[in-house]
Amino acid sequence: MHLISTENLSKEWIETLFDQALIYKNQNHSENHSVKTFEGCFAATLFYEPSTRTRISFEIAAKKLGFEVIHLNPDTSSLKKGESLFDTANTLINLGIKLVIIRHPSNGFTEEFASFFNDFDIRVINAGDGSNQHPTQALLDLFTIREELNLSLAQLEGKKIIILGDSLYSRVCRSNIYLLKQFGLEITLVGPKHLIPHDLVSENHLNSSNNLLETLSQGIDLIMVLRLQKERQGKELTRAFMSEEEYIRDFRLSMESLNKSKLDLNKIKILHPGPVNRDVEIESELVDNQFLSLIDKQVRNGVFVRMAAISSLFA
Ligand code: CP
Repeated sequence: MHLISTENLSKEWIETLFDQALIYKNQNHSENHSVKTFEGCFAATLFYEPSTRTRISFEIAAKKLGFEVIHLNPDTSSLKKGESLFDTANTLINLGIKLVIIRHPSNGFTEEFASFFNDFDIRVINAGDGSNQHPTQALLDLFTIREELNLSLAQLEGKKIIILGDSLYSRVCRSNIYLLKQFGLEITLVGPKHLIPHDLVSENHLNSSNNLLETLSQGIDLIMVLRLQKERQGKELTRAFMSEEEYIRDFRLSMESLNKSKLDLNKIKILHPGPVNRDVEIESELVDNQFLSLIDKQVRNGVFVRMAAISSLFA
C-alpha cells in the first residue's frame, strides 16, 4: 500500500494512525524518544517542487524511525540525462530503497510513479502532486483540529469549517475535503468565483460563498486559510480576474474582519498549511496570534503524523 490520496482512507485506518501519532508525540517528551524500527533501511526523497516544512518534516520523521534519508535532486539526477521514470524507479528498487517520498507539479504523477513499486516491499508517499493531493498535510490538519478541540473524531461531526482562498489550485484543499467530509464536518469554500472548484463543490455537496464577511457572520468553528497558488494559476489568470489588491480587500482574513463578523474569538481557530504570504491571504498579526492560530502546532504535529503514516504503510 502507498499513500497517494485521502479519498479512499477508511475511518478505522485514520483513527489508528492518529492513535499511533499520539504515541509518538508523547514518546517525544520522554528521554528515550527514538523509535528505531527501520534501522538499516533507506528512504529517498524526490522533490520536483520547492518545499520547506513537508520535506524537513518527512526527513525528521523518517530519521526518528531509524531510516537513513537520501535526497535525490531531480535537477542533478539522471532524469536530466533522459532516464525514464520507470528506469529511475527500477534503480531505486535495485539500490534497496524501502520508502520513497515524492512531490511533483503534475496531477497524478506520484500515483503513476508509485505503480512501478507495486510488486516490491517499497512504499511511496505523495508529498503533493499539482493541485491534486497532499494527504499527509490534510492528516496533520485533522489531527491538530481534533487535538485542539479536545474531541474524538466522531465528535467533530457538525463542526463548521471555512476553507478560505484559492481552493481551485490547492491540493491541500482537495485532500482536506475528502478527509473532513468523512467525519461530518460542514465545509464552506470561500473565495473569488474563479478560484472555487465548482465541480468539487457539487460532487461533494459543499457550500461555497464569495462573501467572506457574510460567511463568517453565520458562525463557524474553524477557518483554514490558503495562499494564492500563483505557480499553478499563471500570471494571466491572476491578472485577468482580480488584482492582488482587490483580493486582499475582499478575502484577506484580518482581525478587523473577525471583529466585524461578531464571532466569539474564544471559540474559533485558524489553520494554514503554509507557506504563508503574510498580509496577503492572512494578516500577519493573526499568523502570530498564539491563541487563535494553529499554524505552529500544525508544523509540530506534522512530524508525528508522518511518523505514523510511514509506520502504517509497513504494518
Ligand atoms: N504545507 C506545505 O506543503 O509546505 P511546503 O511547501 O513548505 O512543504
